[in-house]
Amino acid sequence: MDLGLRGRSAIVCASSQGLGRACAAELARAGCRVVINGRDAERLARVADELAAETGVEIVPVTADVGTPEGRAALLAAAPAPDILVTNNGGPPYRDFREVDAEALLAGINANMAAPIALVQDVVDGMVVRGFGRIVNITSGSVKMPISGLDLSSGARAGLTGFLAGVARSVAHANVTINFLLPGTFDTARLRSNTEATAQRQGADPADVAEQRRDGIPARRFGEADEFGAACAFLCSAQAGYITGQSLLIDGGAFPGIL
Ligand SMILES: NC(=O)c1ccc[n+]([C@@H]2O[C@H](COP(=O)([O-])OP(=O)(O)OC[C@H]3O[C@@H](n4cnc5c(N)ncnc54)[C@H](OP(=O)(O)O)[C@@H]3O)[C@@H](O)[C@H]2O)c1
Repeated sequence: MDLGLRGRSAIVCASSQGLGRACAAELARAGCRVVINGRDAERLARVADELAAETGVEIVPVTADVGTPEGRAALLAAAPAPDILVTNNGGPPYRDFREVDAEALLAGINANMAAPIALVQDVVDGMVVRGFGRIVNITSGSVKMPISGLDLSSGARAGLTGFLAGVARSVAHANVTINFLLPGTFDTARLRSNTEATAQRQGADPADVAEQRRDGIPARRFGEADEFGAACAFLCSAQAGYITGQSLLIDGGAFPGIL
């Protein structure tokens, strides 16, 4: 399927590995010039080279913390008029909700709610003027089904979803869409480090913890980042202009509700 994205310009935040990288890769395969981002300059440069070699499009690495105004300014300097914005960031660590003090609470809200909102504010008006825009926010399945210990993640991302729900309706007339991708359990570095931490807490073998997790998913496996990237690219496609304000859960059937 030709996604109609050849020559488009995209910013994909937090994209030197995992879900963000998979989104950047799929947009590059679709012919977009992609700005990729992470804090580790060496890894980011390596990924930029790999994606450019694979896809033949321009990949621009921007080493920056997306949670800071300076970091976001650097991203926008690399692509001042993006057609596509994929917001993403690291998630907060597992922590009992009683231990989330005021400082941690604000940091989580900044990382997973305020930072993506600031980026949307920066790019959305230009998209409206140009008559094309696709914004995809990587949030979490925990927005729909809370995960104990990730309460800050659930809360900040639910806040982002609510904030942007109205914004999505206000720009839909201009072929600008805002959607949300909710990962369930994907086989990334973050998942592997969470599994290690859980195993350590429980004094269990990480392989057993991983198997138990897989058993709890109707698909009986973890998601592959490429599957996530493909869904992201479709939401960014020319064909997806009538899909907006939606939260798409990609979780192998783990969420048991019907709506
Ligand atoms: N994997 C899952 O199953 C799952 C499930 C639910 C939700 N999520 C959420 O989805 C998001 C992506 O998860 P993932 O599994 O792909 O994580 P990951 O494999 O750990 O990758 C995180 C990426 O974000 C970059 N990053 C982190 N903090 C950053 C910052 N402040 N500024 C710029 N880049 C930053 C990292 O690069 P640097 O470290 O070099 O900065 C890396 O490229 C996270 O918010 C996570 O909580 C994931």
